[in-house]
Amino acid sequence: MSNRVAVVTGGAQGIGHGIALNLGSVGIRVAVADLNVENAEQTAKEIEAAGGKAVAVEMDIADGSSVRTGVTANTVCPGPTDTPALRKFANGSGDAEKVIGGMTRGVPMRRLGTPEDVGPAVAFLASDGAGFITGQTLSVSGGLTMA
Ligand SMILES: NC(=O)c1ccc[n+]([C@@H]2O[C@H](COP(=O)([O-])OP(=O)(O)OC[C@H]3O[C@@H](n4cnc5c(N)ncnc54)[C@H](O)[C@@H]3O)[C@@H](O)[C@H]2O)c1
Repeated sequence: MSNRVAVVTGGAQGIGHGIALNLGSVGIRVAVADLNVENAEQTAKEIEAAGGKAVAVEMDIADGSSVRTGVTANTVCPGPTDTPALRKFANGSGDAEKVIGGMTRGVPMRRLGTPEDVGPAVAFLASDGAGFITGQTLSVSGGLTMA
């Protein structure tokens, strides 16, 4: 897959970080695009240290002119996933344990997702094997959307 390049927006942290590391590990060159360029550079270093190829790019996805699109377009929908954003949300509730417990009970597989759960789904959709798949949505949620 070394001829492929992926632009992972929000790739510096959380789910995007997991996706960027996974794509790097399967030989896709990764542009880690994020508002937080310092964390993006750190992620690019992690990918390179593991033998992959990556660059950090400062990007604001809210600025449409800075975002590129590919020839296939698919969506991966994570369920509740243990990231800094989820922890911030739970901590802000005043009872993080209760909030996280409630989320976990709602997932048929009875655990939160991790960024590492999401990366392989994206890697598949970015692979040659998925070249005839477009316009699809893949739920990576431990069965939450079938519950
Ligand atoms: N964590 C979950 O449970 C969950 C579940 C489903 C969907 N999501 C969605 O997945 C995405 C990532 O979630 P997360 O939990 O990993 O969040 P996170 O806050 O841990 O990480 C988000 C990353 O995106 C970057 N970012 C934010 N705004 C940006 C912008 N305008 N341009 C470029 N980069 C930007 C941040 O700097 C950060 O590195 C969010 O859109 C979130 O709503 C999260």
